[in-house]
Amino acid sequence: MRIIVDADPGIDDALALYYLRAQADTEIVAIGTVHGNVPVEQATANALRLTERLGIKVPVAMGAGKPLAQDLMTAEEVHGHDGLGGFAGDEPTTACTGESAAEQLKRLAHKYPKQLSLLAIGPLTNVALALQIEPRLPELLDKVVVMGGALNVPGNVTSYAEANFWHDPEAADLVLGAGFEDLTIVGLDVTMAGHAPGEWLEALPQDIYPRKFLRFYADFYESFLGKSGFVPHDPLAAAILVDPALATYQEDRFAIELTGRYTRGKLVADQRFLAPGSPFGRDIAPERIKAKYAVTTKNDAFLEQLRHAVTLPYD
Ligand code: BDR
Ligand code: CA
Repeated sequence: MRIIVDADPGIDDALALYYLRAQADTEIVAIGTVHGNVPVEQATANALRLTERLGIKVPVAMGAGKPLAQDLMTAEEVHGHDGLGGFAGDEPTTACTGESAAEQLKRLAHKYPKQLSLLAIGPLTNVALALQIEPRLPELLDKVVVMGGALNVPGNVTSYAEANFWHDPEAADLVLGAGFEDLTIVGLDVTMAGHAPGEWLEALPQDIYPRKFLRFYADFYESFLGKSGFVPHDPLAAAILVDPALATYQEDRFAIELTGRYTRGKLVADQRFLAPGSPFGRDIAPERIKAKYAVTTKNDAFLEQLRHAVTLPYD
């Protein structure tokens, strides 16, 4: 499987790269960066640092520095001032390519028609921009897996909104409505349930790099949730892209609430189960094609795969 990653590294974004690098028959083709957890310049430096550390020799393209229609918001309280829990380290020795992340996505979608899958684990600004310069992107990509949304559970930025969709609701809504035939949304309904307990972290070897940056992230989650451990959102999305059988799904038409006073950024679905022949129509995004939303996952199996991935020696 060829994968292009769009990310805002970010501690759990880093874990997603560790996860993908450990999978047989999975090739990361390129990485695009986006604002989100940290400003895009920091996300780009972190993507370069991680590719150097992990021996992933792929182009890194810097993407959007701000959302389509609102001001930039970041999440250093979750990911640390440098996005990697204070452990980002030295300046990278490699550089980003000069192409934008949206241009890179368009170019590689043309190079590998129907053979390139997209893992989007940050705000969807780059993907929305790519759709604007290449409206045929849905026909060109194979699978698309997006980490975002909170359908039947509380949000993590507001009561209703999850961070990736909150950071650019207009972009998220454009992507959900673009007509991707194989689109999977991995939201908080499964990622919060996929909480990695404190014992998982404590059992990691003392000297490995992920153990350092995960400590900061776990401290945040412990104060937020009142229990030890952390939530591995982005690597779970990566795992579901590589192995869709890790999850079960609800199929529906999805949209993002853009105007709600309290609900802006919320993922919404047409959740009424209307009887055949019902006079009531679908009232949410009836014109959209269906996507899949993950509702359960095999979490023990995933956490074991993640443990294996972060403890492999670097190349
Ligand atoms: C998502 O938001 C970011 O903080 C994480 O990296 C993840 O992609 C979780 O809501
Ligand atoms: Ca992320």
